[in-house]
Amino acid sequence: MNSREIIEILRDTGPADELFRKADTVRRERCGDGVHLRGIIEFSNHCARNCLYCGLRAGNTKVRRYRLSDEEIFASAGIAARAEIRTVVLQSGEDPFFTADRLCGIVRGIKERAGCAVTLSVGERTKEEYKELKAAGADRFLLRFETSDPGLFARLRPGASYENRFQGLRWLEQAGFQTGSGIMIGLPGQTFETLANDLLRFKEFELDMVGVGPFIPHPDTPLGGEKRGTMELTLKIVALTRLLLPDTHIPATTAMGTIDPQGRQKALRCGANVIMPNLSPVEHRRDYSIYPDKICVTEAADHCAQCVDAMINSLGRRKAPGFGHSLKNNITKSSQGSPT
Ligand code: SAM
Ligand code: SF4
Ligand code: FES
Repeated sequence: MNSREIIEILRDTGPADELFRKADTVRRERCGDGVHLRGIIEFSNHCARNCLYCGLRAGNTKVRRYRLSDEEIFASAGIAARAEIRTVVLQSGEDPFFTADRLCGIVRGIKERAGCAVTLSVGERTKEEYKELKAAGADRFLLRFETSDPGLFARLRPGASYENRFQGLRWLEQAGFQTGSGIMIGLPGQTFETLANDLLRFKEFELDMVGVGPFIPHPDTPLGGEKRGTMELTLKIVALTRLLLPDTHIPATTAMGTIDPQGRQKALRCGANVIMPNLSPVEHRRDYSIYPDKICVTEAADHCAQCVDAMINSLGRRKAPGFGHSLKNNITKSSQGSPT
C-alpha cells in the first residue's frame, strides 16, 4: 500500500467494514485468537516536558504529583504474576528522579520477584542508558513518535527534538529491545497525508509493537478547547497498521475504551491482539490523568485483570499463553529463556 492508497481509504466516508474484516482475518492468520495481557503500572506522574496535549505536562500545576516506591511497584508486579499476566509495562512522565540506575534496580527486582517480561515507557533516554536498561533485563520499550509531521511535532512538543525521537527508536533496536511506537489520532493540524506518512513510518521502522489511540483534549492543557479524535478514524488506523505490519503487536488502547465503552472490543475485532489492564495502586490512578475521564480510575487492579479476561472471553477469544514477545522472526530472547 502506498501513501495515495492509504489516503483514499482514510478519505472514504462510507462504512469501513470490509477493511475491518480484512484486518481481522490477517490478525487471526498471523497472531491467532490469543490476546496478550500487559499490565500497566503508572509509577510516576512527574514530568519535565511540556507536551501541549498531555495532562501530566510540567506546566499543569493542578496535578497532584506522586512517585511509587520500589516496594509499591513490586507489589503491583506481584498482582500481575498472580493474575497470570506475563508482562508489566512501567510507564511514567519523563521523571529525572528515576535515573537509569534506579530503573535498572526496579527492572531486576521485578524479574526476580514476578518473573515476567518488562516493558518500559518512560520517555527519551540516552543511547548508553538504553543499553544499561536492556542489560538489566528490560525486554521492550515503547516510545511513540506521536506524529511524523516535523512542524506539528515541534509545535506540540516544545523543547523536544523530532530527530532524537526517531534516533531513539534506532538506538532501542540496536540495544536489542523489542521496540514499540505509535501516534495519536485527531491531533489538531494532523491531516490524512500526515497519517499516511505515520503508517509508512511504522513500516519503515519494522516495529514490534504499534500503539495508537485517539487524541483526547485535557481541559488543563493548551489544547483543552480542541476536538478529540474519532473512534472511526482510530479503528481505520488500527486496521491499516495490521495490514501493513501483519506481525506486529497492536493494543486495544485505554484511550479507545475511554471515548467509546466498546472501544477496546471494537479494536480487538479489527486488528488488535493486546490489551493493557491497569495495575497501578488505586489511590493514585486519578492523578495519572493524561486525558480526562480515563477508564478504570476507581477499579482495583484485580478487578481490571478479571474484567479484561471476561472481555476476551466474550469476544470468543482466549488469553494468549507465554510472554507475548515479538512475533517478528520468532524472537525468544530474554525473560529467563522463555520458550514463547
Ligand atoms: N512520558 C512518556 C512519553 O511521552 O513517551 C510515556 C508516558 S505518555 C503519558 C504515554 C502516551 O500518552 C504518549 O506517548 C501520548 O501518545 C499519550 N497521550 C498523552 N496525552 C494524550 C491525550 N491528551 N490524549 C491521548 N493520548 C495522550
Ligand atoms: Fe510528559 Fe509523556 Fe505527557 Fe509529554 S506525553 S508531557 S513526555 S508524560
Ligand atoms: Fe478496568 Fe474493565 S479493564 S474495569
